[in-house]
Amino acid sequence: MAANPSFATRVVRWQRRHGRHGLPWQGTRDAYRIWLSEVMLQQTQVRTVLAYFERFTARFPTVCDLAAASEEEVLSLWSGLGYYARARNLHRAARLVAERFGGAFPTRFDDLVQLPGVGRSTAGAIAAFAAGERRAILDGNVRRVLARHAGIEGDARSAATLARLWREAEARLPRRCIEAYTQGMMDLGAELCAARNPACASCPVAEDCVARRERRVQELPGRRARAAARRRQVAMLVVLSRGEVLLEKRPSSGIWGALWSLPEAPADGDPMAQLRERFGIKDAGITPLAPFEHAFTHFTLEVTPWRIDIRKPPAIAAEQGTTWLALGEISGAALPSPVKKLLQRLADGKIAGTPM
Ligand code: ADE
Repeated sequence: MAANPSFATRVVRWQRRHGRHGLPWQGTRDAYRIWLSEVMLQQTQVRTVLAYFERFTARFPTVCDLAAASEEEVLSLWSGLGYYARARNLHRAARLVAERFGGAFPTRFDDLVQLPGVGRSTAGAIAAFAAGERRAILDGNVRRVLARHAGIEGDARSAATLARLWREAEARLPRRCIEAYTQGMMDLGAELCAARNPACASCPVAEDCVARRERRVQELPGRRARAAARRRQVAMLVVLSRGEVLLEKRPSSGIWGALWSLPEAPADGDPMAQLRERFGIKDAGITPLAPFEHAFTHFTLEVTPWRIDIRKPPAIAAEQGTTWLALGEISGAALPSPVKKLLQRLADGKIAGTPM
């Protein structure tokens, strides 16, 4: 009797027939494009990444074009993708590649893993796709596939469980066709082995899946005991004067690091007192705007925006880390996406406050 095809053979065959094909970063050995897509896909879904990938590659056809751009421009093009440390690392990595590799994007795992923002899994994916190097990947989707198929318990983010998952990932690598295998693992995790209600009936490796055999598909991978959801409250000050809005540069670490954003104030304080103290603004009309929430990985930010119309702008434009931006220029600015949305709606005349 013929032996069952190996795990990898089944994944490769399934990928060829049922996996994702024709994505703009597939079918190329251009490590620059592959790297760009993998970094964008680290925390963002394919359908969102598509438009950003097109915009980045149109504006920066080579890594040297990206290296030559200002951080401001890179952040601005990244605006809306979130996790802005990725954009800053992307820019730093491009500059390193331009300097150290003369603009020839590396394809070897050992070189890739040294680049800022490129971890073991991303380096493995790029080396596999760009050079056919036999390397394992272990992103969130692949962790789920392996934890289920091998029946690995424990929080998939703990060091001990991660080490076991990496061992499984490496032990299953095929001798050939690493590209289709790598894509197949990503596709299985994204399309069939979903966190909830996985499509086991269509899965090429269901037959020997431990979680399925033991009816533990819903239990695996193990989850960390959920910490109570954290919430933070903040007031945002939309200071308007002569069709321009006042912006402040955020500190380079922390959420929205180095992005321009709206000045903030304690949610339970008096926004006018802040404006007086920080900007010397006294004479202004203040209007509450509709509060909104923004979810980060570790907490939810509850934002109370205030519209503040000032008649005479104080001399703060020259102050470091502060600027005025015309409402008409919001779409091209490097702003956090909820702030951009709020300002865009204001610029479009879609928000009217309640006068106080
Ligand atoms: N997620 C991470 N990398 C990916 C890729 N190359 N294609 C589709 N989804 C992905």
